[in-house]
Amino acid sequence: MAILVTGGAGYIGSHTVVELQNEGYDVVVVDNLSNSSEKSLDRVEKITGKKVKFYKADILDREALEDIFANEKIDSCIHFAGLKSVGESVAKPWEYYNNNITGTLVLIDVMKNHGVKNIIFSSSATVYGDPAFIPITEECPKGQCTNPYGWTKSMLEQMFIDIQKADPEWNIVLLRYFNPIGAHKSGTIGENPNGIPNNLMPYVTQVAVGKRAELGVFGNDYDTHDGTGVRDYIHVVDLARGHVKALGKIEEKAGLKIYNLGTGNGYSVLDIVKNFEAATGVKVPYSIKPRRPGDIATCYSDASKAERELGWKAEYDIKDMCADSWRWQSMNPNGYED
Ligand code: NAD
Ligand code: UD1
Repeated sequence: MAILVTGGAGYIGSHTVVELQNEGYDVVVVDNLSNSSEKSLDRVEKITGKKVKFYKADILDREALEDIFANEKIDSCIHFAGLKSVGESVAKPWEYYNNNITGTLVLIDVMKNHGVKNIIFSSSATVYGDPAFIPITEECPKGQCTNPYGWTKSMLEQMFIDIQKADPEWNIVLLRYFNPIGAHKSGTIGENPNGIPNNLMPYVTQVAVGKRAELGVFGNDYDTHDGTGVRDYIHVVDLARGHVKALGKIEEKAGLKIYNLGTGNGYSVLDIVKNFEAATGVKVPYSIKPRRPGDIATCYSDASKAERELGWKAEYDIKDMCADSWRWQSMNPNGYED
């Protein structure tokens, strides 16, 4: 039996395929390559020494999904496929709701048609909005999202909860990621943003590699230890391993489960700059800019539920995350382009 990984050519998906193959799972990837390159999967094969079965298809394409489920023996799905740019989602809400929500509804329907009722879904700490308390446990109420991307995650969570309530044969794990950074130790797979990066770490590495002049630090007047925004950065390999552990809950037929995947540690923007410089020896010039609309001061997890129930705990520290992000960026200054 195989695990279907939607969006498996992307950043988190490709790292998860490595960890699944390392653990002996058969993997089938479906990805429309709208935000990724098939080369990531060639590199995954080099890392693991195993073939990755790949279908270039869109999850909105019901017939293509029907064919995949008819041809492959799928047991469970890990569902990464989705659009994820916050700014773009504000400009193109219809595209985000259609791709992320309609795409997921088509996927769930096809799964159901084939009697496959096991799924792990990529959610986000963004569903907590401006969190009611810190550190954020899974009991923290969901909040107001500031953009359509965030709402797609929040709405999809609710849809999964309702579907599992109506049909308890479904086993569903909702994983709320904090801020994934870093890359595989080989430096051969990593995050490959299109255009100007929105997220902090890819911006830092592009400054370090000389593609951008300086980092803009979005606000230094937050109520944090140095005034800059605090987040819970997590190594993408730890995050990937969290998915493998979550498969255990699927195998136990545990119903509906929700877990934070974070480290439980908060680092400010300036902490990241300092740690990056210390880990790599490369300077990151920066200047202070106005706050970015929609940003919150502080967001970090209490990740103890995942440790208790999944036996999962992040292992890599912030220096590993910085060093590994840099290895990927410096070995591949243009991402997957030659
Ligand atoms: P990514 O863009 O690298 O990967 C997503 C993949 O999905 C891409 O390869 C893209 O081509 C594919 N895709 C998109 N729409 C598709 C469709 N309709 N059909 C088939 N394939 C499609 O992003 P990522 O960082 O690896 O994120 C993976 C998932 O995790 C996403 O759902 C994202 O929203 C979620 N997430 C990411 C972060 C983060 O910081 N990276 C944080 C929280 C949640
Ligand atoms: C952002 C998204 C969130 C998404 C997550 C992962 C917003 C408001 N939130 O989270 O929905 O799930 O990415 O994709 O966009 N920063 C700078 N300069 C930069 C970039 C970022 O100072 O050039 C700061 C930000 O203000 C923030 C921190 O760095 O304090 C982290 O930012 P980022 O990497 O974009 O992640 P989030 O804002 O936490």
